Amino acid sequence: MSYIEIRNIFKIFGPDPEGALELARAGSDKDEILTKTGHTVGLHDVSLSIEQGETFVVMGLSGSGKSTLIRHLNRLIDPTAGSVSFGGEDILAMDIPALNAFRRKRLGMVFQRFGLLPHRNVMDNVAYGLEIQGTDRKSREAAASKWIERVGLAGYEAKFPDQLSGGMQQRVGLARALATDPEVLLMDEAFSALDPLIRSDMQDELMKLQAELHKTIVFITHDLDEALKLGDRIAILKDGKLVQVGRPEEIILHPADDYVQAFTRDVNRGRVLRARSVMQRLTPGSERSEDDSNAPVIRDDTRLEDIVSISLKTGQTISVMDRDDNRVGLIDRDQVISALSR
Ligand SMILES: Nc1ncnc2c1ncn2[C@@H]1O[C@H](COP(=O)(O)OP(=O)(O)OP(=O)(O)O)[C@@H](O)[C@H]1O
Ligand SMILES: [Mg+2]
Repeated sequence: MSYIEIRNIFKIFGPDPEGALELARAGSDKDEILTKTGHTVGLHDVSLSIEQGETFVVMGLSGSGKSTLIRHLNRLIDPTAGSVSFGGEDILAMDIPALNAFRRKRLGMVFQRFGLLPHRNVMDNVAYGLEIQGTDRKSREAAASKWIERVGLAGYEAKFPDQLSGGMQQRVGLARALATDPEVLLMDEAFSALDPLIRSDMQDELMKLQAELHKTIVFITHDLDEALKLGDRIAILKDGKLVQVGRPEEIILHPADDYVQAFTRDVNRGRVLRARSVMQRLTPGSERSEDDSNAPVIRDDTRLEDIVSISLKTGQTISVMDRDDNRVGLIDRDQVISALSR
């Protein structure tokens, strides 16, 4: 079983969700249900398994159900049908005190509009979660200082949110979410309000932190480039339904339908595709057959954009090695061109 299990969630908004639920179960889609009943389908039979330590990205167009999905993970809303569990524990069965403890101790949240407390300085914002957990001032300020430094804001402890740029405010938001050492970070469009360069910095920062912390991160975005950069896996929602879940390369190489295809059309393939999905795979046994000591050699996780420059520079067939230094594939110029242009 995976760490977070979302099973057959339906969420219907409106006064009589049960009637609409029956229609949804019988196969009616969001438009049909809205026309017939005036009810809005937020999620339609969504099941997902999220592994501990992975960065799981949820994407889709506006109104596809992304925020509705993440709100089921902190139980800001309850499903019309279905179940949600964390580490085998059914969060829908929790009473209010248990739910409050769950949110406080196990979840960290980062919001698009930063959600900082305007009358508290950086230190007190970052220490806030620990304060409501009852941690004494000295310990919580020590922990907060560590995170403030970690996100690059040392020296700004006494500043107030309105004295900081958007990027800096979101760093505070991230430090605050991490200060309680949560198991799971929920991030809903956390970087979407930032300028492109700052946004890219924050993505890098998050990836750096994640490489050390291995939190379970559920990250929502409507931006495919952001999804491909951050996500170990990506789920794509459309009209409340899950249309595809997969690794970035799977999404690019095998889009499930036209909706996903439309998302992937403008993607920079050079940055997403890796040697292992571009190469011509060698069958076991043939590894040593054509040893050419001058041939360029790369790892199987080398990005296509780097392969392009090696291929152009050397003009030779490139050998691809796996982590254990076995030659697993070959890439020649034709493969590079077809991977870029498909
Ligand atoms: N509280 C609510 N009451 C009624 N309908 C709702 C409510 N919350 C969400 N919806 C509807 O559920 C659907 C999914 O909304 P949701 O906010 O999850 O979309 P989203 O993918 O997060 O969109 P965005 O990218 O614009 O944030 C939409 O059709 C929306 O109108
Ligand atoms: Mg949303």
